Amino acid sequence: MPRHEREKVLVTGGAGFIGSHTADALAKKGYSIVIIDNLAPPVHNGRWPKYVLNKGYKLICGDVRKKADLAKALKGVHYVYHLAAYQDQRLDFSKFFHTNTVSAALIYELILEKKLPVEKVILASTQFAYGDGMYQCAHRDQRLETRNKVFYPELRTEKQFKSKRFDILCKHGKPAKFHPFREDQQLTPTNSYGLSKEAIERLALRLGKTYGVPTTLLRYSIVQGPRQSPRNLYSGALRIFTVQALAGKPITVYEDGQQTRDFINIDDVVAANLLCLKNRRTDFKIFNVGGGKAYKVIDFAKTVKEITGSKSPIVIGGFRRTDTRHAVSDISKLKKLGWRPKFGPEKSVKDYAEWYRREYRN
Ligand SMILES: NC(=O)c1ccc[n+]([C@@H]2O[C@H](COP(=O)([O-])OP(=O)(O)OC[C@H]3O[C@@H](n4cnc5c(N)ncnc54)[C@H](O)[C@@H]3O)[C@@H](O)[C@H]2O)c1
Repeated sequence: MPRHEREKVLVTGGAGFIGSHTADALAKKGYSIVIIDNLAPPVHNGRWPKYVLNKGYKLICGDVRKKADLAKALKGVHYVYHLAAYQDQRLDFSKFFHTNTVSAALIYELILEKKLPVEKVILASTQFAYGDGMYQCAHRDQRLETRNKVFYPELRTEKQFKSKRFDILCKHGKPAKFHPFREDQQLTPTNSYGLSKEAIERLALRLGKTYGVPTTLLRYSIVQGPRQSPRNLYSGALRIFTVQALAGKPITVYEDGQQTRDFINIDDVVAANLLCLKNRRTDFKIFNVGGGKAYKVIDFAKTVKEITGSKSPIVIGGFRRTDTRHAVSDISKLKKLGWRPKFGPEKSVKDYAEWYRREYRN
């Protein structure tokens, strides 16, 4: 019997979208699965979703903010995927840090305190940690060196949005050039969610290195696929556009639709998660996990309309001040380890629409 058939993996937030798919893939490889999840609204309704039931998983309804619940979940575990998170846009700032960051500290605290045989901790970070990221002034002043042209913009102003000048502008008032996010660039998160993830990265890497617990952080781009909760405010364009398209309501695209995203399919994320489990070259490192291609949001809306066969009009307008103009990650670091995204958003839309129809519209 291969050793991993006896190995136990804890997936925190395993009743959720990425966690449940990761658990299924690990189970297929013979790992024994433990899930801790608090099943709280809006993502859940207090009950285990049926896709985690009757699979032989040990299911613990508990809260990752509570040390006793985590201690129970960590018992006899060899690997941890820490995916439980609070993702929202509300003003309850402290909840992001308690759920996302303090929980990570508790995991390391328990590993040391109880001398647990945990061989690796893999934690979910996010592309949101970059905020708007890095831009370069496109002004044709030959005297300015490249390094002087690079800047990390502040949030766009209300005035800028209202005058429909959506691009990030340099100090000369000209549209600046976006640089895809690289793991070694400065992080400038724009909200508490991103800040809590920046903190989780620093904390996990520091504690992991100091106490010899192999640790990997994965900065996912926008992940798409079935089981993405339609009640989760953070589940983004796929959910919003598909639900609108299937209901025959207008598909609403913010700004001018020219903003770009590198959407990634859930199967590619699961492959990245699994790669990190035993690959020593991922220890104590941070990786971007993105789709590798920039899609304009307007084109994504057209894809949703086409694949769902919807007659909904696509309506452009409105904005959210904390949205980033472009969010595209450079994925060359993870690609060097043999991983690459295999599926485009077309598959995500098709799979999500089928799943949504089955679960919510029949
Ligand atoms: N989906 C994306 O596009 C995306 C992008 C970047 C990063 N991430 C990160 O990936 C991870 C998984 O995200 P997801 O999309 O699967 O979200 P999800 O909401 O589907 O899953 C998160 C799970 O965590 C659980 N949870 C929340 N608070 C908890 C608590 N206090 N105790 C126990 N369980 C709790 C929820 O009930 C849920 O089942 C998160 O850490 C998220 O920040 C997701």
